[in-house]
Amino acid sequence: MLSIKRDEPLIIALARGRILKSALPFLEMLKIKPKQSLSTSRRLLFNTNKEDIDLLILRSADIPPYLERGVAHVAIVGKDTLLEHDSKLLCEPVDLGFAKCKLMTAVPIGKNLPKNGRIKVATKYVSIARKYFGSLGRQIDLVHLNGSMELAPIVGLSDVIVDVVNTGKTLKENGLEARDIVAYSSARLATSRVAMKTRASQIKPLIELSSRYSDYAGLK
Ligand code: PRP
Repeated sequence: MLSIKRDEPLIIALARGRILKSALPFLEMLKIKPKQSLSTSRRLLFNTNKEDIDLLILRSADIPPYLERGVAHVAIVGKDTLLEHDSKLLCEPVDLGFAKCKLMTAVPIGKNLPKNGRIKVATKYVSIARKYFGSLGRQIDLVHLNGSMELAPIVGLSDVIVDVVNTGKTLKENGLEARDIVAYSSARLATSRVAMKTRASQIKPLIELSSRYSDYAGLK
């Protein structure tokens, strides 16, 4: 029977998608083996070979509230998500060095941003975008999207997008080009300041092993 009611298991949340794929070798190194395949199962909660560790698979944006409310104690999540959420309750003790990407602005190929006036920005990173354009002294109209951002400038919904760029393939295939780097991202081992204290005996060894993994794998 699936359960999280055993004696205080440590709950590790994993961000679905890009991060999850790259996190599989990391979990192997930690010798954490989920009882079902993380990549093929539709489950969201996984018991593991370790009696005291369970895994949760969540959408990236949902990880910060799970950590803040103590439902998940540790997470493997992108810096992009942590930057967007910008929570004083959370900390990110280890840069795991995988799932590296950049947050960039992108515009239709050959087009420039409007020189004056407000800029229409489509993104799911609304807080990051607000700060970024604010730092440039530009006023923006934000269009908050949850995916397929690349379409927005093409259909006239926005002048520019702020999105994750890895290989650049998605931008290219949608007639966009990257302009400016807004932030760098990679997978982080994140936790809450409260869990760092209340779960220290479980989290500290995890932090130690994780730091060694990113050094050893030459990922930084
Ligand atoms: C991100 C981003 C782009 C794509 C960029 O999506 O939103 O669509 O990756 O990668 P590329 O530069 O290698 O083409 P992701 O797959 O993380 O899913 P998301 O739409 O949930 O953000």
